[in-house]
Amino acid sequence: MIEIIGPLIRSADAASLNGGSGGVEKPPPLQKQLIERLQQAILAGRLPAGSLLPSSRLLAAEMGVSRNTVVIAYEHLAAVGYVIADQQGTRVSPLSSATARDGETPSQSAAPEIAYAARVGQFAATRTHACNTFPLTPGTPALDRFPLTAWRRALERSMEHALPVALGYGEPAGEPALRDAIAAHLRMARGVRCEGAQVVITEGAQEALNLCVRLFTNPGDTAWVEDPGYRGAKAAFNLGDLRTLPIPVDSEGMAAPPGAWLAHPPKLIYTSPAHQYPTGAVLSVARRLALIAQARRSGAWLIEDDYDGEFRHTGEPIASMQGLVDDAPVLYVGSFSKTMFPALRIGFVVLPRAIAGHTAVALQEMLRGGHRLEQLALARFIESGEFGRHLGRMRRLYRERQQALRDALGAHFAPGQILGGDCGMHLTLRLPPALNDRILVERARAEGLNPRALSSFALHPDAATNGLVIGYGNTAAERLAPAIQTLAALARDIEGTNANAKGTSRAPATEPR
Ligand SMILES: Cc1ncc(COP(=O)(O)O)c(C=O)c1O
Repeated sequence: MIEIIGPLIRSADAASLNGGSGGVEKPPPLQKQLIERLQQAILAGRLPAGSLLPSSRLLAAEMGVSRNTVVIAYEHLAAVGYVIADQQGTRVSPLSSATARDGETPSQSAAPEIAYAARVGQFAATRTHACNTFPLTPGTPALDRFPLTAWRRALERSMEHALPVALGYGEPAGEPALRDAIAAHLRMARGVRCEGAQVVITEGAQEALNLCVRLFTNPGDTAWVEDPGYRGAKAAFNLGDLRTLPIPVDSEGMAAPPGAWLAHPPKLIYTSPAHQYPTGAVLSVARRLALIAQARRSGAWLIEDDYDGEFRHTGEPIASMQGLVDDAPVLYVGSFSKTMFPALRIGFVVLPRAIAGHTAVALQEMLRGGHRLEQLALARFIESGEFGRHLGRMRRLYRERQQALRDALGAHFAPGQILGGDCGMHLTLRLPPALNDRILVERARAEGLNPRALSSFALHPDAATNGLVIGYGNTAAERLAPAIQTLAALARDIEGTNANAKGTSRAPATEPR
């Protein structure tokens, strides 16, 4: 056995190995060493499943330890399942061999081959979070302008008033104070028809989407998604084993083909009416009403993702689709990721009044009611008016930044190709087919800029979805012009390389300067 697990190290051996000098680290107790050596040998397959270990008397003699040391080591290994002890002796358990490869410890073995669920295999890596701090990242607000002092005060006050009770589980649907504060804000700011009892707090809009899938669909049901559209919605539908039907988007938003209701009756329809993500189209009132009427007839639910509707930049605010008619079949989803900060991870879904009560039992099983202090602080932040003041400041800031971005794009890119901008924190720039958006994005990342490829939001990328989604929320106005100048230079370089390769000249995406 000593050849398999090696000799144990005693204090005297360790000291002599170090020339008897002081300050030598003491080896672990013999019993601990013996347990670890046997575990390693079993995991690595050097002691294969089913093999009989020596009796405690024999092993004690061989290793030069007391018999009691071996007995305790065997008992420990049996308790955690490495060995099985019976009347015939102590054998290596079959479990261990299943995980081991010959001569390797688990940390040395190659990545295990795991049969992931098919739905997980559908996800492709397209972005790295490390780039999310780069200029031009869509969807990242001006984090350096967040009123940290006021937020800290709200957090401290909720700690003063709510501890220790708020350390326990909360209501599954979230803190009643926050649900009421959100409902009051939405009624006033977004024309949503709701009470606090209809609001379910979630971990961001993403969990709200997952919740809609779990509450209202069965595997195999059909969900409509805008194409190009928000990847988070597609991910939620894939995870729910739904069939997703891409619905084209034009300048009036989601444009459902007339035959689709009959041919592919949906259970869920994902829309971003205030500012279609990523094209920026505003869903027309005629289409909103038609969607509501058709959804009602077909027993479908409309998900209204109002992710950046608070930052309206042109004209009068457009109220939510949910508030257009009474009891609309709309699941209104919101998030504080843009209005506060993404790491807060607080979002919500407003359920229709008629069904809010019926979901309570299911929600008890699905949600646990955590992050209570943050939720209470957010309720305070909203009620005290800090939230409204912050929104006002950010609206003005984003308007300024958007104008700076428009100016910079106008100076470098062909006119008439900018989409969106009525709301939010991004503009979309269409590119000519010869200038591949993914190549441009890759080159931009190497320069420390992080626009997204419009085609990465499309289920069926084509010439109309070749472009850039350019965020201005996290980029100071004075940094936008140099950033766009860099993008334009990269675009010219790619176009030049393409033209040289083909020996042709095409209409450039960039304006000659
Ligand atoms: C269209 C859309 N909806 C919702 C969200 C917010 O998601 P979450 O609240 O999970 O951060 C985003 C964030 O990028 C978004 O782009």
